[in-house]
Amino acid sequence: MEPQLKGQVAFVTGASGGLGEHFARLLAREGAAVALTARRLDMVEATALAIEAEGGRAIALALDVAQAETIGPAMDQAQAALGPLNILVNNAGVGGEGLALDLSVAEFDRTYDVNVRGVFFAAQAAARRMIAAGIEGRIVNVASIASHTVLPGLSAYCSSKAAVAMLTKGLAREWARKGIAVNAICPGYIETAINADWWPTEGGQKQLKGFPRRRLMDATDLDAPFLMLAGPAARAITGSVITIDDGQSLPGGG
Ligand SMILES: NC(=O)c1ccc[n+]([C@@H]2O[C@H](COP(=O)([O-])OP(=O)(O)OC[C@H]3O[C@@H](n4cnc5c(N)ncnc54)[C@H](OP(=O)(O)O)[C@@H]3O)[C@@H](O)[C@H]2O)c1
Repeated sequence: MEPQLKGQVAFVTGASGGLGEHFARLLAREGAAVALTARRLDMVEATALAIEAEGGRAIALALDVAQAETIGPAMDQAQAALGPLNILVNNAGVGGEGLALDLSVAEFDRTYDVNVRGVFFAAQAAARRMIAAGIEGRIVNVASIASHTVLPGLSAYCSSKAAVAMLTKGLAREWARKGIAVNAICPGYIETAINADWWPTEGGQKQLKGFPRRRLMDATDLDAPFLMLAGPAARAITGSVITIDDGQSLPGGG
């Protein structure tokens, strides 16, 4: 099949591992030139080199999305190297676990700085550039089943992801006539660095057995809906928050 995203330029936050790296590689396989960004520059550099070795186009940039004022300049660097931005993947996120009675101000702020402010200001920076270039852009926010499900001990994380879902709708409405589609995916649990310590524990095993299909998802389970929202199919999809969770948030799951 022809690559769906030939000639497109994508900017991915949190691409140094886990889902962000997966999305960056997927976008590159579909023909997009990709700017991989994260705090750990060595990791994004290694993936960018691997993408180029496979015939793709990629650059790596250091970016901490919690430093909101640095997002725009990173996008300018990406555009200078790859061309005008068509796709933003707002993937960077932190777990923010901790019982509400114990959570410190700094821990709470960190979750919101990355998961909410990072998403908002990256979307703003991308939309400003897409509008200035007259580009029909797509923004894909990585929310979570936590956007609509209470995950015990994760009130800061869940509320931050609920904010991502609402930001998705608000920004989609505001930019609807400016040619920018803003959508979100809400994945269920996939083993990555964000949760890898949890699954071997007694609690993790118990939670796993409670899922309707008694299994974790694989990152590739997100590919088709992700590409739908990142590509031309999103022409008439905006403000959608799509759950892809293998049924994990159905009653009895979670
Ligand atoms: N895995 C799941 O089950 C699951 C389910 C639903 C939603 N999600 C969401 O999926 C996204 C990716 O998570 P993951 O599972 O792939 O976890 P992960 O493996 O821990 O990856 C998180 C990524 O976010 C980056 N990041 C963290 N803080 C950052 C910051 N301040 N600035 C820029 N990048 C930052 C990390 O890169 P650096 O440390 O190098 O900066 C890393 O690349 C998150 O938004 C998460 O909430 C995950």
